[in-house]
Amino acid sequence: MADQGKLRLGVNIDHVATVRNARGGAVPDPLRAAALAEEAGADGITAHLREDRRHISDADIEGLMAHLTVPLNFEMAATEEMQAIALRHQPHAVCIVPERREERTTEGGLEVAREENRLAHFIAPLREAGCRVSIFVAADERQVTAAHRIGAQVIELHTGAYCDAHADGRFEARDAELAKLREMAACAHALGLEVHAGHGLTYDTVAPVAALPEVRELNIGHFLVGEAIFRGLAPAILEMRRIMDDARG
Ligand code: PXP
Repeated sequence: MADQGKLRLGVNIDHVATVRNARGGAVPDPLRAAALAEEAGADGITAHLREDRRHISDADIEGLMAHLTVPLNFEMAATEEMQAIALRHQPHAVCIVPERREERTTEGGLEVAREENRLAHFIAPLREAGCRVSIFVAADERQVTAAHRIGAQVIELHTGAYCDAHADGRFEARDAELAKLREMAACAHALGLEVHAGHGLTYDTVAPVAALPEVRELNIGHFLVGEAIFRGLAPAILEMRRIMDDARG
């Protein structure tokens, strides 16, 4: 039986940096957002240092490492540059994500199955440095089992397809995507992997994912930063927390 423990909320602050970078100055400050998120009950902070530095900067990562009192989940592509940065900072967790320069956001999960050997070697030093290694994957058994074989401790299931189907009113497709997430959460848990989920989650879509008993952590960013415009960051996070807790029952 899967663990029914408290579901953690990781708040992704990338898009606070997106707004800052739109003007090239120092505000709004992602570190201030992270501190507020902590106060509002975030169990962790997630930040993605992209190769093109379009939102989070190297200095943001340094600041987060220096000031956070909750764990940092450092999202990164599987490149030598990012590996060196992760090894220098040794964050609590690293989440390996696919990255393409032309994409607007992380569009799919990592292709683990075709790159098992390279990725196994890539994550080994991160694990040795004490980071929890998470792999961002689609709800696809080939990818989940490959993530297990390469030695990851965690998988994060990509919820984007489920959320997109909901937003487009394609409810049969949405339910089919949710069924895949359910099945892969159970499959990963049975393999001994810790299961996280995220991407595109909103107040309307979070509950069925939060209700999956094997899921231990959700990472949510874009919607919360957008909602903060209307109600403030702390109330936006508190409402997400409430929906997650209600769904957990
Ligand atoms: N998890 C991972 C691995 C991601 O890459 C992202 C987006 O950066 C998120 C969660 C959060 O997605 P969103 O910003 O759509 O909530």
